[in-house]
This record gives sequence, structure tokens and C-alpha cells, in this order.
Amino acid sequence: MSFVVAIDGPAGTGKGTITGLISKEMGLVNIDTGATYRCVALQAIRNNIKLEEKQKIISLLDKITIDIKNNKGKETQTILLNGEDVTKEIRSKEVTKIVSQVSSIVEVRLKMVEVQRNLAKGKDVIMEGRDITTYVFPNADVKIYLDADENERAKRRYLENQEKGINMSFEEVLENIRIRDENDKNKEIGSLKIAEDAVYIDTTNLTIEQVKQKVRNIIENSKLKSNI
Ligand code: DC
Repeated sequence: MSFVVAIDGPAGTGKGTITGLISKEMGLVNIDTGATYRCVALQAIRNNIKLEEKQKIISLLDKITIDIKNNKGKETQTILLNGEDVTKEIRSKEVTKIVSQVSSIVEVRLKMVEVQRNLAKGKDVIMEGRDITTYVFPNADVKIYLDADENERAKRRYLENQEKGINMSFEEVLENIRIRDENDKNKEIGSLKIAEDAVYIDTTNLTIEQVKQKVRNIIENSKLKSNI
């Protein structure tokens, strides 16, 4: 039996950082589900397909393979699109701008959920995204919703981008977060919402270390309860 920790929440709540750290510390396989949607968006850009050309985006789905490798002893992952390392490229400004809309296409969601479930099969995993607690793994052992104030999230993403050499102004980041939030909450399937049985954590005034500790405690308690 595998053990599943599911974490949802909007962009900039620290989901990626927290899951990376916890996966390393607790030996859980980290599956960044947003990365799978980013791969489809990147492939669309590479093929000069526009957002309006939905059928063309859908037709890409049979021609791509996506794999996520956890880097041994580190909190980072390598994302492979058709075997090519695209870890950095999928975080580009261009991909970030269109990914939410690409992920709203029902056929893309159905295929990516299949990819995500396959990546998790038989493993003890920690997965983060928008619909993990509600749609991908509604029976997950641990369900957490991370949230934070919009301005704080934009600030975090802006600083993170600067560190990664992604050139976006604070206003641009904030605007992008607003548009993505709106789009993520209004998807036909897999929209971002708080699962009834998820633990809600507001991270606005918490450090990464504090959030990590809270999440660790929840996982450890759940493991104790289920005797794992
Ligand atoms: O977490 P992220 O910013 O890398 O996610 C990229 C986009 O993918 C985001 O705008 C919403 C979408 N997404 C989704 O719809 N469902 C998920 N489980 C994860 C991400």
C-alpha cells in the first residue's frame, strides 16, 4: 500500500519548496503536478501553436512523454519531456503566461491526471498542485491546503524569479498570479478549491521552516494513526 500526501493551493504559497524539503527529509517521492501542465504548454510553444488552437494542443498529448526524477539527496527534481531535461525551460515567462489556460483544456487535464497517477503508482509520495486533494487523490492519507495573502505570494514569486534569473516586474508577477488564480478556480474539472477534509494552513506570516514543521507534524501524526 502506498502512502499519499496531497497538497493544494494557489501559486506562491510555498507548496513547491515545502514538498521538496519534506520529500528529501521524509523519503517521499515528490511529484510536482504543475510541471506536467508546464510541459504541455512548452510543447505548444515549441510547435508555434496558439492558445486558441485547442485541437492542435490536444493532438500533442499522444506525442509526449513526461517523467519526473527526484535528484538523490537533494530537494530538487529533474523534469523530462520526451527524455529531454526541461526543468528550467518550463519555468520561463512564456510558459508561465499560458500554462493555466492550457491546463483548463479538459482533454489535457484528463491525460495529465493519468500521467500523475502513473508517476505515483506503488510509491510513497508527496504531491502538490491544485486538484490533488479533490480530484487526483481524493482518498489521500494526508490532505493539506496552503494559502497566503495575494501580495505576499506575488512578493515570494518575484524574489524566487529573481534568484532564477527570470526577469519579471513585481506588477507583472502580481497580475499573472491574479489571472491564474481566477482561471484555476473556474476550471470545468479539477478547479482549485479547499477539500472539506483538508487541513488549512495560512502561510502569510509564517517562515518556510514553520510551514515545513507544521506539515511534517501533520504527516507524522497521520503515520502514527495508520501505524506506518
Ligand atoms: O504550480 P505551478 O505554478 O507550476 O502550476 C502551473 C499551472 O498548472 C497552474 O497555473 C495551474 C495548473 N495546475 C493545475 O491546474 N492542476 C494542478 N494539479 C497543478 C497545476
